Order: sequence, then structure tokens, then C-alpha cells
Amino acid sequence: MSLTSFPGGGSSSTGIPITKVTMPALAEMKRQGKPISALTAYDYATSRLVDEAGIDMILVGDSLAMVVMGHDNTLAVTVDEMLHHTRAVRRAVRRALVVGDMPFGSYHGTVAQGVANAVRFVKEAGAEAVKIEGPRAELVEALTEAEVPVVAHLGLTPQSVNRMGGYRVQARTVDAVLRLKADAHALADAGAGALVLEGVPREVAASITAELPIPTVGIGAGPDCDGQILVFHDLVNMTFAPPAKFVRRYADAATLFRSAVEHYREDVERRAFPSDQESYHLSAPVRKALGIESDDEEMDTLVNKDALPDF
Ligand code: KIV
Repeated sequence: MSLTSFPGGGSSSTGIPITKVTMPALAEMKRQGKPISALTAYDYATSRLVDEAGIDMILVGDSLAMVVMGHDNTLAVTVDEMLHHTRAVRRAVRRALVVGDMPFGSYHGTVAQGVANAVRFVKEAGAEAVKIEGPRAELVEALTEAEVPVVAHLGLTPQSVNRMGGYRVQARTVDAVLRLKADAHALADAGAGALVLEGVPREVAASITAELPIPTVGIGAGPDCDGQILVFHDLVNMTFAPPAKFVRRYADAATLFRSAVEHYREDVERRAFPSDQESYHLSAPVRKALGIESDDEEMDTLVNKDALPDF
């Protein structure tokens, strides 16, 4: 493959060269003490915005089952649905590392099935890594062997909601902390490139982050992780539910979108949209031939504007 055709090539709209974020680049950021920014995204438009805003890692999270598809939890989303969204994100992203989230059931059988499904994310959707939940060192080793970089995920793992009996902060007892630490080390030893730590006490995340050679990316795990990730819809208030303690709302898209849509509906109802300027017009000779009355001069200005491309 020619280096000039490498997808990370090119430059931004400001002419600054884009340096593609890769899994080894995340490890280098940890070494340099540079915080890793990560967000979920699920479609072309938001992924473009997230990428252009300089976020390092975009996770096409199975949280899309809830925030995009309206399910009560993440369990129902399928591999094909995840691939569909991952492809859309892939088309939008030039710089960030694109990680596909393997959905419930797609890696819970044999290791061979897990590897086969993970390969689909890379081959059919352009993911540069996959994320899997839970202490699955054997699978991580097999994926690494198969050249599929892995982001592991421990702590509150939403695909275990039925076993956990709800979404609860994890690792609050000495035994549970020691187990979580042992699992984290096993995943790093098996070849995981990064570890998402979700819903664990700050002290636990800090100590795992200090011990592990790979970057930790926290969500509800305090500020001492190597990076932070949030669900995009939480960040911009598009979830229709009170936010969890760890969420910071950076914008109120729900209010902005609702007001724009209400304004549009009102304009349609009072026939204020579209205006004459927002309409296409016939030329003077065609109007004349059809016997359509009009103020020629004003109309011709509008027709001339129509000489521009229609859309
Ligand atoms: O699916 C998801 O959005 C996630 C993040 C919360 C880490 O797994």
C-alpha cells in the first residue's frame, strides 16, 4: 500500500496536516501524560463534528441501542445494526481512532465466534479496534493474534445488567477491588490496547491507571484515568432522562432542536414558509406564454437567482 493513500493522510480545512490517531498513539499519549479525549458517536453528521473538534477516540457504542434506537438497555442491538452505524462513522472520521463496540451475544460463545464477529467490524465497517466487555483475556489474546486491536471494558459493564440486577457502581469492597485489578492486569497482559473503566470509585480507577502499562479511559471513574469518555447524547442533553452523577452537560441540544422545529411548524401553519425568495420561478417568456400575471421586474430578479444550481 502506498503511504500517500493511507486514510490518515491529508490536511484539515486550515491546512494543518492531520495525524491519524492509532492504538499505539494512545499508548504514547499515556507515556507522555497527555489526556485522551473520547466520545461515542453513531452517525455521519455527529461523527464529523466530533472528529473535527479534535476528539482522539470515537466509540460506536452499543449505547446506540438506547440513545438512538430507544431500547431500555443495550442488549437488543445486533452485529448487523452495529456494523451499519460503524460504516457511517467510518465515512465521517479522518483523525480519531474508530472503535466498534461488539454487542451482547456476539462474543459470548466460543472464542472463534468472537474473533469471526470482530473481524467483520474491521473488514466490513472499517473499525480500527473493537471493544468488548468483561474479563475475557482468552478472547483478547485471540483477537490480538488475529490483528484486531482491542479496547477492554471493566467495572460497570452494561451488557451484564441482568446479572448485576441494575446499573450499580462496581468494586466497592476489598475483594471486588482486588478482583477488578487482577482482571485489568490479565487483559493488559493478553494484549488489550486500552481499558475502559466504567462506574468504579475514583480511588480504584486511579490505582489501576497507575499500575497498568496501557491507557485507561474512564466514564464515571473519576479524573485520574488516562482519558475520559462520555456518551454523545448525554453531553448535549438528548437522552430524555436525568443525567447520571458523572455526566456534565455541555449543551442543551434538546431545547435548541425543539425550538427550531416548533418555529418551523408555526411558520408552515401561518404560511410564512417558504417565502417567494425561497421558491423557484418561471422566466418572463414562459410566464407570458402561459398567461401568468406577475410583476416582471421583481420576478426576473428572482429568476436570475434561479440560474444558480437548484440545490
Ligand atoms: O456503549 C457505550 O457507549 C459504552 C461507553 C459508555 C463506554 O460502552
